[in-house]
Amino acid sequence: MTSSAPSPTLLLPGDAFPPTFEWGVATSSYQIEGAVAEDGRTPSIWDTFSRVPGAVHNGDHGDVACDHYHRMPQDVQLIKSLGVDSYRFSVAWPRVQPRGRGPVNPAGLAFYDRLVDELLTNGLRPFVTLYHWDLPQELEDAGGWPNRDTAYRFADYAMMVFDKLHDRVETFTTLNEPWCSAWLGYHVGVHAPGRQDFQASIDAVHHLLLGHGLATQRMRAAETTPHRYGITLNMGTADPAEDTQTDRDAARRADGMGLRLYLDPLRKGYYPQDMVDELAEQGVTLPIEDGDMEVIATPFDVLGVNFYFGQDFSGVDEQGRTVDDEGSPVVRSVFPGTERTAMDWPITPERFTQLLVRLHRDYPGLPMIVTENGAAFDDQADEQGYVADDDRTAYFAEHLAAVAEARAQGADIRGYFAWSLMDNFEWAYGYDKRFGIVHVDYETQKRTPKQSALRYRDTIAQFRSR
Ligand code: FCB
Repeated sequence: MTSSAPSPTLLLPGDAFPPTFEWGVATSSYQIEGAVAEDGRTPSIWDTFSRVPGAVHNGDHGDVACDHYHRMPQDVQLIKSLGVDSYRFSVAWPRVQPRGRGPVNPAGLAFYDRLVDELLTNGLRPFVTLYHWDLPQELEDAGGWPNRDTAYRFADYAMMVFDKLHDRVETFTTLNEPWCSAWLGYHVGVHAPGRQDFQASIDAVHHLLLGHGLATQRMRAAETTPHRYGITLNMGTADPAEDTQTDRDAARRADGMGLRLYLDPLRKGYYPQDMVDELAEQGVTLPIEDGDMEVIATPFDVLGVNFYFGQDFSGVDEQGRTVDDEGSPVVRSVFPGTERTAMDWPITPERFTQLLVRLHRDYPGLPMIVTENGAAFDDQADEQGYVADDDRTAYFAEHLAAVAEARAQGADIRGYFAWSLMDNFEWAYGYDKRFGIVHVDYETQKRTPKQSALRYRDTIAQFRSR
């Protein structure tokens, strides 16, 4: 690892994190692997979507990405050099089960088998995400997540991964950010598969949650030793922009569609009534069948929290209207007047504490792990590829302090994974936005830890030595 940069540890109280706290770095399959046509892998919705003109910045795609598929052993050494406990990665469904139906593809599954062994040999714990958005294209052609059958297909696929890895992997999380799959993929259309159909996106919400429940039930039924099961949600905070009833309603709606629509069924077994009523007013219904809510509310062990920023909401649009062209109440995001990242996202660490404490209060009894947190900035690499990323380093320092504060206020947070191990394919933004704590030169595939990686390593070491 580069040692040219000064690397003081963060100024966190000595007891901010216990020695048992789980420290990690995170990635996902399509964002780093490349090798999209190797060893039997078939296209996912992101292979297809990234070919749609204008869908992804600069026409970028994941064909090569970080070439992790071929560089996995070196990447595991890189992870080890950071001194983390765990590595959160996702499994590509179309590698393991090409076309999303039929038998397992041993050659595709073997990659994750090797990865798990490589991690364990190097003293690293694998933390598996089963679905980080690479749905086999054929399942989208058959209707995708709005089609109920996809939930059952997902549970079958989950068992293929579980059967192979459960003897060595303790933690299986089902979905990464179902809000993004449903809302961005089927309603807004800026993520794969790029559809714009509100009813379809609400159908997708229900079937994603159903798939999570079915997979969790089947994995638990098949286990011979205890495992940890979970799901990762992306969440922010939604405060009223002004202290008015209109803005309070807008904030309630944003929180309802972004957070309660997922966590209420998962933890309480029913969808939030205010959201069900408002969807009905727009002619949209949740496709619930008998027994579904029990499946969705299957107990799980850990909630993965992905946090990037919090926002305020106004119920009045720029033209002063409270109802939009479709007749829906206006829910307009208003960013707090803070510094922004290269994504133009506001930097709001205090809202991270607010979110974590609120989750602890409203959904008690559920241990949490921060499965993603991080920031893109316009990095300037020197000739060696080193990035003195003061901005990202500060982002991590402030957000780790925010986690420590939430813990001090009683929130049960057991771990933290930095997003991301290395620069990678940032979905619709392509390679333009760099979230890595390790810089990637895409011409040479050279990896160089940034200052933020060195600080992260030292921060972890600080709590280890206690
Ligand atoms: C999250 C995704 C992750 C990455 C970060 C920046 O929504 O889970 O893959 O793109 O945002």
